[in-house]
Amino acid sequence: MSEPDAISAPITALSPDDVRVLDFSSVVGLLNEPNMPSGGGRTVRRVIAMARLAPGARVLDIGSNTGYTSIELASWLDAQVVGIDINPVATAFAKAKAARYGLANVRFDVADATDLPYPSASFDLVYCSNTTSFIHDHRRARDEYYRVLAPLGRLVAVPIYYASPPPESLRRRVGDAMGVDLAVTDQDYWRDLFSDGEATLIEQETYEYVRQSPERIASYVKSILDQPHLESVDARVLQAAAERLTHFYELFDENLTYARYDILMYRCGHPNPEPVLHRTRAVR
Ligand SMILES: C[S@@+](CC[C@H](N)C(=O)[O-])C[C@H]1O[C@@H](n2cnc3c(N)ncnc32)[C@H](O)[C@@H]1O
Repeated sequence: MSEPDAISAPITALSPDDVRVLDFSSVVGLLNEPNMPSGGGRTVRRVIAMARLAPGARVLDIGSNTGYTSIELASWLDAQVVGIDINPVATAFAKAKAARYGLANVRFDVADATDLPYPSASFDLVYCSNTTSFIHDHRRARDEYYRVLAPLGRLVAVPIYYASPPPESLRRRVGDAMGVDLAVTDQDYWRDLFSDGEATLIEQETYEYVRQSPERIASYVKSILDQPHLESVDARVLQAAAERLTHFYELFDENLTYARYDILMYRCGHPNPEPVLHRTRAVR
């Protein structure tokens, strides 16, 4: 089976050789990897605290993959959450997970972030973590995020960027894993990208990554492969999937030693200026 078909086929239709050439997003979708944002649930709950949404708010999660963030948002909020992703297999897992937990306030659509199938001004919060870097045209995606935001709506972005430049060979290998020609972006790149004449940057928090041991990576891979929906999959296909996942996690762990991530929150039409001239800090 050729690569373009592989992302829309179930894992039972693939050979070990098919699995060995899949990019990261496709493997994640096939295996139902939780696919958390940087910082996991803690990041999502921080975003909820920052966004201060009113009951009944409309939330759009860009690149929802297997549903982690959308489901986390829907489980905490009195809000209508929509997750979109271009990958239909990952989206099917997301739908099944939401149904399993009886969450009626979350829906998943297969859609392209650069051409969102929603009217203008139809969401109060647009959230995108590590998705925009997977999209070829960052600016077109950014324009779509702002188009669908209502007045006083919030855009929250959680980009990963390089705090120091990675070796070229590492950049190339990470790009191959992600299926993109990976640009070496820095903190200012994302801050500038998401800045829009109509939106004010309200919050910016910066985090760094902690290096993982091989044992921790191996145990995480095992937890993914031990899921019930993979029980009937051919052992050679599962072995290829385990090797592919381990390869990606080790590669990303090395890459993240050069990286940081931010939580950025912009607000459209914010009525007051930010920030203040005389900056302050809490007394400890
Ligand atoms: C690393 S995953 C991540 C995201 C995840 N929500 C997170 O918390 O960081 C990137 C996702 O972006 C999706 N994606 C890539 N290009 C896309 C596009 N043009 N429109 C929508 N989703 C896209 C991929 O299918 C994949 O599920």
